[in-house]
Amino acid sequence: MCTNIRHQDTGPTLLLPINGIHLATLIIYISLIMNKNLFITIEGIEGVGKTTQIKLLEAYLKGKGISFISTREPGGTQVCEKIRNILLHDEMDPVTELMLYEAARAEHFSTVIEPALKDNRTVICDRFADASIAYQGYGRGVDIKLIETLNEIATKQTKPDLTIVLDMDLDQASERLRKRGTEPDKFERLDKEFYKKVRKGYLDLAVKEPERVKIINSLQSIEKVHQDIVSVIKY
Ligand code: TMP
Repeated sequence: MCTNIRHQDTGPTLLLPINGIHLATLIIYISLIMNKNLFITIEGIEGVGKTTQIKLLEAYLKGKGISFISTREPGGTQVCEKIRNILLHDEMDPVTELMLYEAARAEHFSTVIEPALKDNRTVICDRFADASIAYQGYGRGVDIKLIETLNEIATKQTKPDLTIVLDMDLDQASERLRKRGTEPDKFERLDKEFYKKVRKGYLDLAVKEPERVKIINSLQSIEKVHQDIVSVIKY
């Protein structure tokens, strides 16, 4: 939970029983339903279908009349998109790379994500702090403790309410990328061993934080993956 951001002020307690249910309880229940904004992040290695699923999720939330923003990391602001451009196209030392991701995250979090959450809007973020653990930590071998510390600073110790990891076998993911046929960026040119480690990073996160991090098999049909996502969001 983003406990450092959101507080549920339930106000004074009213004790008027209606059919055995206290009016105050009813009001709190209704307001909880009405105000239930979530911070949802979507993760996974390249080629697992994040973009398609994010579009479907956006349409779903729209259909439910839920106020939300959809954003991405690295990116989401002009400055962060500039950092993204450097990160995705230039080679650099792994710690330098981590710090650029974290710089972009600090800027993005404080100017986009935090204000939206404070405004009681749901946030969908295409990748977030877990990506640094998986890619820079497991993938590139940067010290996980260091990444966790920098993540805490960049995100003001805020964790997503829910992280969906779209997961599939590496061969299937790279076959999808090949079919997509767009020019590969730096990450898409990296080898299989790298992605094996990144995938393990995500799977380990789900073991470590099973309440927050949900693995969804993205080898299923697009519709089934979407249904699985909706079932864990519980809107
Ligand atoms: P995208 O193509 O899903 O937008 O992600 C851009 C690339 O950035 C992707 O290869 C994963 C990588 N990445 C990291 O290595 N660390 C991070 O912290 C984030 C957010 C992304």
